[in-house]
Amino acid sequence: MMLERLEAIKKEALESLAQAKGEVVLRAWETKYLGRKSEFNTLLRGVKELSAEERKAVGAKGNAVKHELYRAFETARTTSHAATTDWEAERIDVTLPGVGRVAGYLHPITLIEEEIEDIFFSMGFSVADGPEVESEWYNFDALNFPPDHPARDMQDAFWLTETWGKKKYLPRTHTSSVQVRYMETHKPPFQIIIPGRIFRNEATDASHEHTFHQFECLVVGDDISVANFKSVAEVFFTAFFEKKTEVRLRPSFFPFTEPSFEFDVSCMLCGGAGCPVCKGTGWLEIGGAGMVHQNVFVAAGYPRGRYQGFAWGFGLTRLAMMKYRISDIRLLMSGDLRFIQQF
Ligand code: PHE
Repeated sequence: MMLERLEAIKKEALESLAQAKGEVVLRAWETKYLGRKSEFNTLLRGVKELSAEERKAVGAKGNAVKHELYRAFETARTTSHAATTDWEAERIDVTLPGVGRVAGYLHPITLIEEEIEDIFFSMGFSVADGPEVESEWYNFDALNFPPDHPARDMQDAFWLTETWGKKKYLPRTHTSSVQVRYMETHKPPFQIIIPGRIFRNEATDASHEHTFHQFECLVVGDDISVANFKSVAEVFFTAFFEKKTEVRLRPSFFPFTEPSFEFDVSCMLCGGAGCPVCKGTGWLEIGGAGMVHQNVFVAAGYPRGRYQGFAWGFGLTRLAMMKYRISDIRLLMSGDLRFIQQF
């Protein structure tokens, strides 16, 4: 009885296989006739109920049918595949160029920051950092900005509307805010740079942004002088512009330096001869600098008159614009990938 049924299943399966074409249909055939829930397998699972002798006969027959069906199935698959596959189209051309993946880009400000850090590392400087939202104390008071003095208006600040007790906070208006923070935890001599993002309440146009990058340089020791500042600046700019660069100082005012300077560098394009970039003057305005005011040292907890140091601060953003010839500062914050992809 079971032997006959097995034979019948085989016949039906083979007939059905003869009609089956294509991978999907063949797979369905396999499930139907050879799958775990197929009649064939259900039937074979019933052999344990049979007598030993019958079991042997049915088992042998079952195996034979199974092998025959599998062999027929494999043959059908190979011929069906060969017949329906266009081997020319399937061929993989290993010589074709691959599809590149876009890994992302570094922002020009990041590139310039890394370049600046490398030059300063080579001169034995370290990099320091501070918070972008700063207390009034570190941004102004500790830097010798007198209360209610017009000097505070030099840098139009945004202020946080919330106050903590009497404490007022603001997005820092310059990287000088890190000076006293650093000095509180470090003893001279030291030489550091502080690159960072700063914020000013400014109307924006092609050369003004409310958010930009600056970097501070602070060197403190026993007998640091303006001559040291000038030489560090010249070494740095000569390396940065890859061209012999001179530094020129003009008297200026900052509450946290005395004396204070504005400083210019010889034009990296014309070398001082005069060109459109330097507006014919041969010099480019770079930033502010000076000898650290003793009141700043005192705010940091150093004894008055014990140390000397110089500080400068200037636009990292401006340097990036000069180096990459970026004509509109707003591009830097635009988040436009077409801009970023060029660096
Ligand atoms: N913090 C000043 C500014 O933003 C620049 C400066 C830094 C001047 C250090 C002197 C010394 O404009």
